[in-house]
This record gives sequence, structure tokens and C-alpha cells, in this order.
Amino acid sequence: MAMMAEVLDLRQFRPAQLEPLLAAEAEEWLRELHWDYRTSLDLIRQYIGARVLPGYVLTAGTPREPRAQGYCFFVYEAQKGLIGDLFIHPASRGGQQAEERLLLQHMIETLQATPGLRRIEAQLMSYRPAELAGCFSRRSFQAFRRLFLLLDLRSPSSSAGAADRGIERWHAGLAEAAAELIQQAYEGHIDSLINDQYRSQAGSMRFLHNVVHFPGCGDFDAASSGVIRAPGGGIAAMLLASRVQADVAHVTQVCVAPGGRQRGLARRLFQHALHNLRSRGFRAVTLTVTAANAPAVALYRQLGFTTLREFDAYVWEA
Ligand SMILES: CC(C)(COP(=O)(O)OP(=O)(O)OC[C@H]1O[C@@H](n2cnc3c(N)ncnc32)[C@H](O)[C@@H]1OP(=O)(O)O)[C@@H](O)C(=O)NCCC(=O)NCCS
Repeated sequence: MAMMAEVLDLRQFRPAQLEPLLAAEAEEWLRELHWDYRTSLDLIRQYIGARVLPGYVLTAGTPREPRAQGYCFFVYEAQKGLIGDLFIHPASRGGQQAEERLLLQHMIETLQATPGLRRIEAQLMSYRPAELAGCFSRRSFQAFRRLFLLLDLRSPSSSAGAADRGIERWHAGLAEAAAELIQQAYEGHIDSLINDQYRSQAGSMRFLHNVVHFPGCGDFDAASSGVIRAPGGGIAAMLLASRVQADVAHVTQVCVAPGGRQRGLARRLFQHALHNLRSRGFRAVTLTVTAANAPAVALYRQLGFTTLREFDAYVWEA
């Protein structure tokens, strides 16, 4: 690390000072995760410009002219802190993650010292599990192994998919029933330890709102997203997808009500989505899954998904 390295508050910076960093980050997300991060970065720029995003910048250079080598930010959501991003410019990486750990340590210390904060969640998909594990475990975080999977729609081994008239295309009127399904589907599930939004109706509504309206998970793609109705009303099964690049989709949610499982509903939703995406010229589909979620991992393997990356989700509770 350079001699003059210093950690400064993100709110002292204008977006233009971070531009080389943001460009390098977008390039890395595209290359490694098939993800066009530029829409998310536009939002991040706006928040940085408004000086409302809590975070830190690792700098070198002179105090008058600090040069940003890396940055990180977090957000508060009621009594929860979410670690939003951590990025060091490739040219400033020492190889031992010392730069990453320095910024991460600042974020964790700030969050854990925030009065009233009960919980911290982090899912930094661009880091391998070992890279940040020590830093989180020393500060009492629990780790959950996650997989980033990819299905190459042009590969002959990937499922061809099929249109399905029993699947209702996603529309806003489904949100409330969808939130109810999420809450039921994740009751006692490992993923509700990782994401506590799944534990309540209000939290599930927030999750859906984020997925459908905010560009953080890509642009919501109603055409490939669908639900299967339950016989007595409500929703039995649902799949939601977003566009993360012109020709790459990301499945942001798939779940089936406990009473409707192992009857092929999730497979039908996937076949329908894959058919739709293929017919529109998409070349790949990605998703993330908790490694210990055996039914879901088996489903994705059967469809032809392969592991692109392993990472860890981290959770701390006061
Ligand atoms: C994962 C989940 C969506 C599967 O839905 P489902 O409708 O029961 O799955 P399907 O009946 O379509 O099964 C398709 C394939 O998935 C796999 N699978 C599904 N349930 C399984 C189980 N309990 N054990 C092992 N494999 C299972 C099998 O490979 C199955 O193929 P097969 O029938 O030829 O054996 C459902 O269990 C669920 O909603 N779980 C809770 C929410 C969740 O974990 N979502 C995924 C988050 S990434």
C-alpha cells in the first residue's frame, strides 16, 4: 500500500473523483459476473453527489489532491445495516486483501457502534469466500456459503424450455399474494437467516418492491417472470427475473408454497422462462443460491446450471 494511504469519509467526495474506480468496477462486473453494473452505478453516483451515502474511500496522493484507490458504502434500513459495496481498483490491490480489509473494518466498526443497530447483512458477490472471511469472523459474523450459477442458453445441454399457458405473466396486482407466498415458502428456511426480509409480509413486500422497481438487481423483466395460481386463490409458485445485461437474465426469486412442492411447479416456471428468454435472443441466465439449499441446487443442476463463482453471505446480530 502507498505510504500516504488514508481512509476518508465518502461524503467528502464528488462522483467525478471516483470515476476511474467506478469504470473499473463496471468492467469487472461485466467480465466476471456477466452483469452490466452501469445502472446501479448511476444510482450510486446520484447518492454520492447528494452526499447522503455513508461509506469510506481509501486514498493515496496528497491531502489536497487525494487519489481514490477504493471505496465502500453501506445503507441503513430501520435497525439493519446493509453492506452495499466494497471495491479496490485492480492497480491498487496488494494481493493480500489488506486494502479491502481496511475499508471493510471501517464499515463494520461504524455499523456495530451505531446505537440501536440490531443486524448487519453483507453479500459481496465479487469476493471469493476466503478473501474476507477472517475480517468478518473476527467481528462475530456468521458465514453462509452461496453459489453464483450460470446457464448458457446456447449450450446443447441446456433445457430447450417450453411455453406454458397455465403460467400467468407477472403484473403489479400480484404483489400482495406474492409477498404472502415468499413468507410461507421461507419459513424456517436457511435463506431467511441470511435475508430477514423473508420473515414478514412487510419485509417480503419491500423485497418485491426492490426487485421490481429498483435497478440494483437489474431491470425487472415481466415477460419471463410468472406465477402459477393456487386452486383456492393466492399463488402456488412464482419465478421472477431481471435483465442484467442486454442478453443476460438473472433469476431474482423462485419459490413454491410448501404444500405444492415436488410436483414439478418450479421446473414448469423455469421451462417457461427459458423458452421466453431464448426466443428473445438471451444468451445466458444467472442466479444465486445458498449451497446448503439442496432442493434448489438439485433443481438448478438438473436444468443445466453450472457454478461460476462461490462467495459468502455474512450476518451479524447484536
Ligand atoms: C426449491 C423449490 C423452488 C423447488 O420447487 P418444486 O416445485 O418443489 O420443484 P420441482 O417439483 O419442480 O422439482 C424439480 C427438480 O428439483 C429438484 N428437487 C425439488 N425438490 C427437491 C427435494 N426436496 N430434494 C431434492 N431435490 C429436489 C429435483 O431435481 C427435481 O427433479 P425430479 O422431480 O426429477 O427429482 C422449492 O423447494 C422451494 O420453494 N423452496 C423454498 C424456497 C427456495 O429455496 N427457493 C430457491 C431459492 S434460491
